[in-house]
Amino acid sequence: MPLQTTANIWHNGQLIPWEKAQIHVMSHVIHYGSSVFEGIRCYAQSSAGGSGNPTAGVFRLQEHMARLADSAKIYRMPLPYTVDQLSTAVVDVIEANGVTPCYIRPIAFRGYGEIGVNPLTSPVEIYIANFPWGKYVPGNEGADVCVSSWSRLAPNTMPSLAKAGANYMNSQLIRMEAEINGYSEGIALDVNGYLSEGSGENLFLVRGGVLYTTPLANSVLNGITRNSVITLAKQLGIEVVEQTLPRELLYICDEAFFTGTAAEVTHLRSVDRILVGDGTMGPITTALHEEFFGIVNGLKPDRHNWLTPVKVKTLEPVEA
Ligand SMILES: Cc1ncc(COP(=O)(O)O)c(C=O)c1O
Repeated sequence: MPLQTTANIWHNGQLIPWEKAQIHVMSHVIHYGSSVFEGIRCYAQSSAGGSGNPTAGVFRLQEHMARLADSAKIYRMPLPYTVDQLSTAVVDVIEANGVTPCYIRPIAFRGYGEIGVNPLTSPVEIYIANFPWGKYVPGNEGADVCVSSWSRLAPNTMPSLAKAGANYMNSQLIRMEAEINGYSEGIALDVNGYLSEGSGENLFLVRGGVLYTTPLANSVLNGITRNSVITLAKQLGIEVVEQTLPRELLYICDEAFFTGTAAEVTHLRSVDRILVGDGTMGPITTALHEEFFGIVNGLKPDRHNWLTPVKVKTLEPVEA
Protein backbone atom coordinates (compact mmCIF):
# COMPACT_ATOMS: atom_id res chain seq x y z
CA MET A 1 0.00 0.00 0.00
CA PRO A 2 1.45 3.43 -0.91
CA LEU A 3 2.47 5.69 1.96
CA GLN A 4 -0.33 8.04 3.02
CA THR A 5 1.06 11.51 3.47
CA THR A 6 0.34 14.03 6.22
CA ALA A 7 0.70 17.83 6.20
CA ASN A 8 3.90 18.38 8.17
CA ILE A 9 7.20 16.77 9.00
CA TRP A 10 9.37 17.89 11.91
CA HIS A 11 12.87 18.83 10.78
CA ASN A 12 15.65 20.07 13.05
CA GLY A 13 13.20 21.81 15.37
CA GLN A 14 10.61 23.09 12.88
CA LEU A 15 7.50 21.80 11.15
CA ILE A 16 7.89 21.87 7.38
CA PRO A 17 5.45 20.79 4.63
CA TRP A 18 5.66 17.05 3.78
CA GLU A 19 6.78 17.73 0.18
CA LYS A 20 9.59 20.04 1.31
CA ALA A 21 11.26 17.32 3.40
CA GLN A 22 13.92 16.48 0.80
CA ILE A 23 17.65 15.75 0.82
CA HIS A 24 20.47 15.91 -1.72
CA VAL A 25 21.35 12.76 -3.67
CA MET A 26 24.97 13.13 -2.54
CA SER A 27 24.02 12.93 1.15
CA HIS A 28 26.16 10.44 3.06
CA VAL A 29 23.13 8.37 4.10
CA ILE A 30 22.15 7.62 0.50
CA HIS A 31 25.50 6.06 -0.27
CA TYR A 32 26.41 4.32 2.97
CA GLY A 33 23.15 3.75 4.83
CA SER A 34 24.26 6.03 7.67
CA SER A 35 20.98 6.49 9.52
CA VAL A 36 19.41 5.47 12.81
CA PHE A 37 15.67 5.51 13.24
CA GLU A 38 12.65 4.51 15.27
CA GLY A 39 9.18 3.20 14.60
CA ILE A 40 6.54 4.18 17.17
CA ARG A 41 2.76 3.79 17.28
CA CYS A 42 0.16 6.24 18.50
CA TYR A 43 -3.16 4.64 19.45
CA ALA A 44 -6.60 6.21 19.64
CA GLN A 45 -7.95 5.87 23.17
CA SER A 46 -11.37 4.26 23.32
CA SER A 47 -12.35 6.46 26.28
CA ALA A 48 -11.75 9.57 24.18
CA GLY A 49 -15.03 9.74 22.26
CA GLY A 50 -17.67 12.35 22.96
CA SER A 51 -15.54 15.06 24.57
CA GLY A 52 -15.10 16.89 21.25
CA ASN A 53 -11.39 16.75 21.85
CA PRO A 54 -10.35 13.14 21.35
CA THR A 55 -7.08 11.99 22.82
CA ALA A 56 -4.58 9.45 21.69
CA GLY A 57 -1.60 7.81 23.33
CA VAL A 58 1.93 7.31 22.02
CA PHE A 59 3.25 3.93 23.12
CA ARG A 60 6.49 4.00 25.14
CA LEU A 61 7.67 7.23 23.56
CA GLN A 62 10.56 7.91 25.95
CA GLU A 63 11.90 4.36 25.54
CA HIS A 64 11.85 4.68 21.76
CA MET A 65 13.68 7.99 21.89
CA ALA A 66 16.19 6.59 24.37
CA ARG A 67 16.85 3.74 21.92
CA LEU A 68 17.33 6.29 19.13
CA ALA A 69 19.92 8.02 21.31
CA ASP A 70 21.61 4.65 21.97
CA SER A 71 21.68 3.82 18.26
CA ALA A 72 23.21 7.23 17.52
CA LYS A 73 25.80 6.79 20.28
CA ILE A 74 26.93 3.43 18.86
CA TYR A 75 27.51 5.16 15.52
CA ARG A 76 29.22 8.22 17.09
CA MET A 77 26.42 10.39 15.74
CA PRO A 78 25.84 13.41 18.00
CA LEU A 79 22.13 14.17 18.30
CA PRO A 80 21.56 17.91 18.79
CA TYR A 81 18.37 17.22 20.78
CA THR A 82 17.74 15.45 24.08
CA VAL A 83 15.44 12.47 24.50
CA ASP A 84 12.90 14.81 26.17
CA GLN A 85 13.07 17.34 23.31
CA LEU A 86 12.64 14.63 20.71
CA SER A 87 9.71 13.15 22.65
CA THR A 88 8.04 16.57 22.73
CA ALA A 89 8.67 16.91 18.99
CA VAL A 90 6.78 13.65 18.37
CA VAL A 91 3.77 14.96 20.27
CA ASP A 92 3.99 18.27 18.38
CA VAL A 93 4.02 16.66 14.95
CA ILE A 94 1.06 14.38 15.76
CA GLU A 95 -0.95 17.27 17.19
CA ALA A 96 -0.12 19.44 14.18
CA ASN A 97 -1.10 16.77 11.68
CA GLY A 98 -4.09 15.50 13.61
CA VAL A 99 -3.74 11.94 12.30
CA THR A 100 -4.31 9.10 14.67
CA PRO A 101 -3.98 6.18 15.04
CA CYS A 102 -0.66 6.57 13.33
CA TYR A 103 2.86 5.32 13.01
CA ILE A 104 5.71 7.71 13.79
CA ARG A 105 9.08 7.56 12.08
CA PRO A 106 11.88 9.61 13.65
CA ILE A 107 15.12 9.35 11.67
CA ALA A 108 18.58 10.82 12.23
CA PHE A 109 21.17 10.57 9.47
CA ARG A 110 24.40 11.87 8.05
CA GLY A 111 23.54 14.50 5.49
CA TYR A 112 25.30 16.38 2.70
CA GLY A 113 28.99 16.95 3.38
CA GLU A 114 31.99 14.75 2.67
CA ILE A 115 31.54 11.73 0.40
CA GLY A 116 34.29 9.61 2.01
CA VAL A 117 33.13 6.68 4.12
CA ASN A 118 34.06 8.36 7.41
CA PRO A 119 30.82 10.16 8.36
CA LEU A 120 32.16 12.39 11.09
CA THR A 121 32.29 15.58 9.02
CA SER A 122 28.83 15.16 7.48
CA PRO A 123 26.05 17.05 9.29
CA VAL A 124 23.47 15.15 11.33
CA GLU A 125 19.88 15.82 10.30
CA ILE A 126 16.74 14.72 12.14
CA TYR A 127 13.26 14.34 10.74
CA ILE A 128 10.07 13.06 12.39
CA ALA A 129 7.12 12.03 10.23
CA ASN A 130 3.78 10.48 11.18
CA PHE A 131 1.32 8.72 8.92
CA PRO A 132 -1.44 6.10 9.07
CA TRP A 133 -0.20 2.51 8.99
CA GLY A 134 -2.31 -0.57 9.64
CA LYS A 135 -1.47 -4.26 9.94
CA TYR A 136 2.14 -5.10 9.02
CA VAL A 137 2.38 -8.91 8.93
CA PRO A 138 -0.41 -10.25 6.68
CA GLY A 139 -2.67 -13.11 7.78
CA ASN A 140 -5.91 -12.53 9.67
CA GLU A 141 -5.96 -16.14 10.89
CA GLY A 142 -2.31 -16.02 11.90
CA ALA A 143 0.82 -15.58 9.82
CA ASP A 144 2.37 -18.31 7.69
CA VAL A 145 6.11 -17.77 7.94
CA CYS A 146 9.32 -19.53 6.95
CA VAL A 147 12.85 -19.87 8.21
CA SER A 148 14.96 -17.65 6.01
CA SER A 149 17.97 -18.85 4.05
CA TRP A 150 19.57 -15.55 5.12
CA SER A 151 21.23 -15.29 8.53
CA ARG A 152 20.86 -12.33 10.84
CA LEU A 153 23.78 -9.94 11.27
CA ALA A 154 26.87 -11.63 12.71
CA PRO A 155 28.17 -10.33 16.04
CA ASN A 156 30.82 -7.67 15.67
CA THR A 157 29.79 -6.80 12.13
CA MET A 158 26.65 -4.64 12.17
CA PRO A 159 25.53 -4.03 15.76
CA SER A 160 21.99 -5.35 16.14
CA LEU A 161 21.25 -3.25 19.22
CA ALA A 162 21.45 -0.18 16.96
CA LYS A 163 18.31 0.36 14.92
CA ALA A 164 20.32 1.50 11.93
CA GLY A 165 19.04 1.91 8.38
CA ALA A 166 21.82 -0.27 6.98
CA ASN A 167 20.66 -3.27 9.07
CA TYR A 168 17.51 -3.29 7.01
CA MET A 169 19.35 -4.41 3.87
CA ASN A 170 19.57 -7.75 5.68
CA SER A 171 15.91 -7.44 6.65
CA GLN A 172 14.97 -6.73 3.04
CA LEU A 173 16.63 -9.96 1.89
CA ILE A 174 14.70 -11.92 4.51
CA ARG A 175 11.35 -10.28 3.77
CA MET A 176 11.66 -10.41 -0.04
CA GLU A 177 12.58 -14.08 -0.04
CA ALA A 178 9.66 -14.87 2.28
CA GLU A 179 7.07 -13.00 0.22
CA ILE A 180 8.34 -14.31 -3.14
CA ASN A 181 7.95 -17.83 -1.76
CA GLY A 182 4.39 -17.15 -0.55
CA TYR A 183 5.04 -16.54 3.15
CA SER A 184 4.13 -13.46 5.19
CA GLU A 185 7.51 -13.10 6.85
CA GLY A 186 10.84 -14.84 7.40
CA ILE A 187 12.51 -15.85 10.66
CA ALA A 188 16.28 -15.56 10.51
CA LEU A 189 18.76 -17.72 12.37
CA ASP A 190 21.91 -16.16 13.75
CA VAL A 191 25.26 -17.09 12.19
CA ASN A 192 25.56 -20.07 14.53
CA GLY A 193 22.21 -21.50 13.42
CA TYR A 194 20.22 -20.51 16.51
CA LEU A 195 16.89 -18.70 16.35
CA SER A 196 17.24 -14.93 16.10
CA GLU A 197 14.21 -12.86 14.96
CA GLY A 198 12.00 -11.85 12.05
CA SER A 199 13.05 -9.20 9.56
CA GLY A 200 11.32 -6.58 11.71
CA GLU A 201 9.98 -8.47 14.73
CA ASN A 202 11.12 -10.28 17.85
CA LEU A 203 10.18 -13.92 18.26
CA PHE A 204 8.37 -15.70 21.11
CA LEU A 205 7.60 -19.42 21.47
CA VAL A 206 5.49 -21.27 24.03
CA ARG A 207 6.11 -24.87 25.04
CA GLY A 208 4.75 -26.62 28.10
CA GLY A 209 3.29 -23.38 29.43
CA VAL A 210 6.68 -21.60 29.41
CA LEU A 211 7.26 -18.50 27.28
CA TYR A 212 10.61 -18.47 25.49
CA THR A 213 12.31 -15.66 23.62
CA THR A 214 15.74 -15.26 22.10
CA PRO A 215 18.33 -13.24 24.07
CA LEU A 216 19.95 -10.04 22.83
CA ALA A 217 23.21 -11.89 22.11
CA ASN A 218 21.51 -13.86 19.32
CA SER A 219 21.61 -10.78 17.04
CA VAL A 220 18.20 -9.34 17.87
CA LEU A 221 16.97 -5.80 18.30
CA ASN A 222 16.14 -4.96 21.91
CA GLY A 223 12.46 -4.64 21.06
CA ILE A 224 10.27 -2.36 23.11
CA THR A 225 7.22 -4.52 22.41
CA ARG A 226 9.33 -7.54 23.42
CA ASN A 227 10.09 -5.86 26.72
CA SER A 228 6.42 -4.95 27.19
CA VAL A 229 5.26 -8.51 26.52
CA ILE A 230 7.85 -9.93 28.93
CA THR A 231 6.58 -7.51 31.60
CA LEU A 232 2.94 -8.44 30.94
CA ALA A 233 3.70 -12.17 30.91
CA LYS A 234 5.45 -12.02 34.27
CA GLN A 235 2.47 -10.15 35.72
CA LEU A 236 0.14 -12.85 34.41
CA GLY A 237 2.27 -15.41 36.25
CA ILE A 238 3.72 -16.90 33.06
CA GLU A 239 7.28 -18.20 33.34
CA VAL A 240 9.51 -16.29 30.88
CA VAL A 241 12.83 -17.73 29.71
CA GLU A 242 15.31 -15.77 27.60
CA GLN A 243 17.75 -18.30 26.18
CA THR A 244 19.39 -19.47 22.99
CA LEU A 245 16.84 -21.56 21.11
CA PRO A 246 17.31 -24.23 18.45
CA ARG A 247 15.54 -23.86 15.10
CA GLU A 248 13.56 -27.07 15.48
CA LEU A 249 11.74 -25.72 18.53
CA LEU A 250 9.72 -23.76 15.97
CA TYR A 251 8.25 -27.01 14.65
CA ILE A 252 7.34 -28.56 18.00
CA CYS A 253 6.28 -25.56 20.07
CA ASP A 254 2.65 -25.12 21.16
CA GLU A 255 2.40 -21.42 20.25
CA ALA A 256 4.53 -18.83 18.50
CA PHE A 257 4.19 -15.12 17.90
CA PHE A 258 6.03 -12.05 16.71
CA THR A 259 6.23 -8.76 18.58
CA GLY A 260 7.12 -5.36 17.19
CA THR A 261 5.83 -1.84 16.85
CA ALA A 262 4.67 -2.56 13.31
CA ALA A 263 3.67 -6.21 13.93
CA GLU A 264 2.29 -5.55 17.46
CA VAL A 265 1.48 -9.09 18.71
CA THR A 266 1.02 -11.34 15.67
CA HIS A 267 0.37 -15.04 16.14
CA LEU A 268 2.14 -17.48 13.83
CA ARG A 269 -0.09 -20.11 12.26
CA SER A 270 2.64 -22.12 10.57
CA VAL A 271 6.37 -22.22 10.09
CA ASP A 272 7.73 -23.81 6.90
CA ARG A 273 4.17 -25.13 6.29
CA ILE A 274 4.21 -27.01 9.62
CA LEU A 275 1.28 -25.94 11.81
CA VAL A 276 2.19 -24.30 15.10
CA GLY A 277 0.08 -26.27 17.61
CA ASP A 278 -3.28 -26.62 15.88
CA GLY A 279 -2.70 -23.36 13.99
CA THR A 280 -5.06 -21.25 16.09
CA MET A 281 -3.99 -18.59 18.56
CA GLY A 282 -3.13 -20.48 21.75
CA PRO A 283 -4.08 -19.48 25.31
CA ILE A 284 -0.84 -17.73 26.31
CA THR A 285 -0.65 -15.74 23.06
CA THR A 286 -4.35 -14.87 23.45
CA ALA A 287 -3.85 -13.65 27.03
CA LEU A 288 -0.86 -11.48 26.05
CA HIS A 289 -2.61 -10.22 22.90
CA GLU A 290 -5.63 -9.15 24.98
CA GLU A 291 -3.50 -7.53 27.63
CA PHE A 292 -1.36 -5.65 25.09
CA PHE A 293 -4.27 -4.35 22.98
CA GLY A 294 -6.33 -3.64 26.11
CA ILE A 295 -3.66 -1.27 27.37
CA VAL A 296 -2.72 0.41 24.09
CA ASN A 297 -6.36 1.00 23.11
CA GLY A 298 -7.25 2.42 26.52
CA LEU A 299 -9.62 -0.44 27.43
CA LYS A 300 -7.48 -1.46 30.40
CA PRO A 301 -5.67 0.83 32.85
CA ASP A 302 -2.28 2.03 31.67
CA ARG A 303 -0.67 0.78 34.87
CA HIS A 304 2.89 1.19 33.58
CA ASN A 305 2.42 4.71 32.20
CA TRP A 306 3.29 3.42 28.76
CA LEU A 307 1.11 5.95 26.93
CA THR A 308 1.98 9.60 26.40
CA PRO A 309 -1.24 11.56 25.83
CA VAL A 310 -1.66 13.50 22.60
CA LYS A 311 -4.55 15.82 21.77
CA VAL A 312 -5.80 15.43 18.24
CA LYS A 313 -8.72 17.09 16.49
CA THR A 314 -9.91 14.11 14.47
CA LEU A 315 -9.63 10.39 14.85
CA GLU A 316 -9.06 8.93 11.42
CA PRO A 317 -9.44 5.22 10.84
CA VAL A 318 -6.51 3.29 9.42
CA GLU A 319 -7.16 0.80 6.62
CA ALA A 320 -6.36 -2.75 7.77
C1 LIG B 1 14.75 -6.18 13.37
C2 LIG B 1 13.70 -5.84 14.36
N1 LIG B 1 13.53 -6.63 15.43
C3 LIG B 1 12.59 -6.36 16.35
C4 LIG B 1 11.75 -5.27 16.22
C5 LIG B 1 10.72 -4.97 17.26
O1 LIG B 1 11.11 -3.87 18.03
P1 LIG B 1 10.03 -2.90 18.68
O2 LIG B 1 9.12 -3.76 19.47
O3 LIG B 1 10.83 -1.98 19.52
O4 LIG B 1 9.35 -2.21 17.57
C6 LIG B 1 11.90 -4.43 15.12
C7 LIG B 1 11.05 -3.23 14.95
O5 LIG B 1 11.42 -2.15 15.32
C8 LIG B 1 12.90 -4.71 14.17
O6 LIG B 1 13.05 -3.93 13.10
